[in-house]
Formats: sequence, C-alpha cells, structure tokens
Amino acid sequence: MISIALDGPAGAGKSTVAKGVAKELGYIYVDTGALYRAVGLHFLRKGIDTNLNCDVEAELKEISIDIKFVKNEQKVFLNGEDVSNEIRTPDASMMASAVSAKPPVRAFLLEMQRKLARENNVLMDGRDIGTVVLPNATLKFFVTASAEERANRRYKELIEKGMKVEYSEVYDDIVTRDYNDSHREIAPLKPAEDSIMFDTTGNTLEESIELLKTAINERLESK
Ligand code: DC
Repeated sequence: MISIALDGPAGAGKSTVAKGVAKELGYIYVDTGALYRAVGLHFLRKGIDTNLNCDVEAELKEISIDIKFVKNEQKVFLNGEDVSNEIRTPDASMMASAVSAKPPVRAFLLEMQRKLARENNVLMDGRDIGTVVLPNATLKFFVTASAEERANRRYKELIEKGMKVEYSEVYDDIVTRDYNDSHREIAPLKPAEDSIMFDTTGNTLEESIELLKTAINERLESK
C-alpha cells in the first residue's frame, strides 16, 4: 500500500489540495483533523471548556469515533451520529486543538489512522502523520502558507458555509492554533526530517493540486 503523509498548519489548503490530488491518483483522502474535532465535540457538548479540567480518559470511555467513506467523501461519526458538519465551527476548532494536546486522546485515535493506511492507498492529512502515525510513509510532505493567506482562505470557506465570523477572529484562531499545535509536548506540529516542503502561498487551488500531483508522481517513479 502507498501512504502519503501531508502535515502542516491549519488552513494551509492541505485538505482541498489533498482531496483533489487523491481523486486524481485514486487514493482515499483521510482528514485526521476531523477525528480530533469529533472528540472535541463530545467535550463541547458536555459543557467542558478548553482548559479540560476533567477526567479525559473517563470521557473517552463514553465515546466511539468512526470514519466512513461515502462516494469517496469522508464522514465522521461520534457515537453513531454523523457529525461531519457540526465539527467545523470555530468552537469545535478550538476544542479540537485543546483535546489534541492530551496524550490519551492521541493514543485513542492512533490505531484507527494506522489501520486505514494498512488497508488502503492513502493521502493522510494531519499534523503528526509523517512523524508519529506513519513514520514509514512512502512520501511525506509538509504543506504550509503564510498565516494571512491561511486566515483568508478559512474565512472565505466559513462565509461560504453561511457562518457568521469576523476575519480578525479567524486570523487570531489560526495564530493561536499554530502556537498550540507546535508547542504541545506530545506529537507537536513539525516537519519530519525526511519531508518535502510544499508552500502554497500565492497559488490557486488548481495550481497547488497540479504541483503536488506532479511532485508525488515524480517521486513515486523514482522509488
Ligand atoms: O486539520 P484541522 O484544523 O481540522 O485539525 C483540528 C485540530 O486537530 C488542530 O488544531 C490540530 C489537531 N490535529 C492534530 O493534533 N493531529 C492531527 N493529525 C490532526 C489534527
């Protein structure tokens, strides 16, 4: 099986680019952030705040997370309920970042991600795919873009979905999440030593898809 790890900060365009590339290559696109978001949603629904002053392990015992692919599109389930849309709110984003810093949460989701890569050709999008989840991935990319550009893209996405948000709020969230994700003790966001840098700043979506697909194909041919 071929596994391609795509790590990088929030809003770098990983998901849209990776979806496009996965479709063209015939791989499945796995959005691992959705798993952390689904776990976060449980805490949010319980009225727990991002300080997580609670027994995290006990909470995890109350939930099951599943991923299913419907027409190649990933759906995420929390205790059997499809929460694929609800996990996209700004509150769910902040909670995902908070729970992802907790070692029991990372351990809880690890095997599910590895199993997907054992059974399918995958393009797996996350923060620690190349460093922790799939250290032997066939290829590893670290996808990034400037914070302003990432905030702009995320802002447009949310507005298109009909959500009421301010640009400044989205920008601040991006900067805070970058800091949290790269400073946590466990599995922090950082490029794997053998990863290839891929900067999408200034590219259109189509350009990034084409560039990433070419980079993948060239490297797979030379393997
Ligand atoms: O990719 P995303 O924005 O949907 O991710 C939501 C949060 O989950 C993000 O703040 C970091 C965390 N995350 C992680 O720690 N490890 C992953 N493999 C994927 C996401």
